[in-house]
Amino acid sequence: MKPGRTLLSQAKIQARVRQLGRDITQHYRGKRPLFLGVMNGALFFLADLLRATDLETEISCIRLASYRGTQSSGLLRGLDTLEGSFKGCHVLIVDDILDTGRTLDALQRRLKKLGAADVKICVLLEKRRKAKRVVKAHWTGFKIVDKFVVGYGLDYEGRYRGLKQIKILDESK
Ligand code: IMP
Ligand code: MG
Repeated sequence: MKPGRTLLSQAKIQARVRQLGRDITQHYRGKRPLFLGVMNGALFFLADLLRATDLETEISCIRLASYRGTQSSGLLRGLDTLEGSFKGCHVLIVDDILDTGRTLDALQRRLKKLGAADVKICVLLEKRRKAKRVVKAHWTGFKIVDKFVVGYGLDYEGRYRGLKQIKILDESK
């Protein structure tokens, strides 16, 4: 299990993140959104996206995990660590990738329950899947093939997050 073919180069990622930053800035102009990063995958994306926006923002992070290896376990851990009041908050969830959508669906519901005025989702990647998702992202960086990818924050069992590109995991290596 090693990183194989490059799917997205560093330059491509950077250009797209800058564009997302402009779109998000336009949307939230005059507001003070809370950028909620889903750790650890969204680490680099959150940092780059923030610097690509021209907004007065707040930042927070939540650590959620559902994956074991390359399979979604269906069991989401970490949601109960979301504390405090989100009353009146305009929350932008920032995550690395939308796969089944279960993670972000659960998070979005929880935030609304905690009083958020508005919850939107920005993901760097969205996998093209046959199955329908319960949740939609308002901003998506790239739609990609339904393969396991690593790099730019995305890991396989904790590895390869530091890669500057996004690569397809080669299961034969
Ligand atoms: P979902 O709940 O199935 O949408 O899972 C989303 C989470 O699973 C993401 O936030 C990632 O942490 C992880 N994930 C899904 N697909 C990949 C992948 O291809 N590479 C690395 N992590 C992934
Ligand atoms: Mg994640």
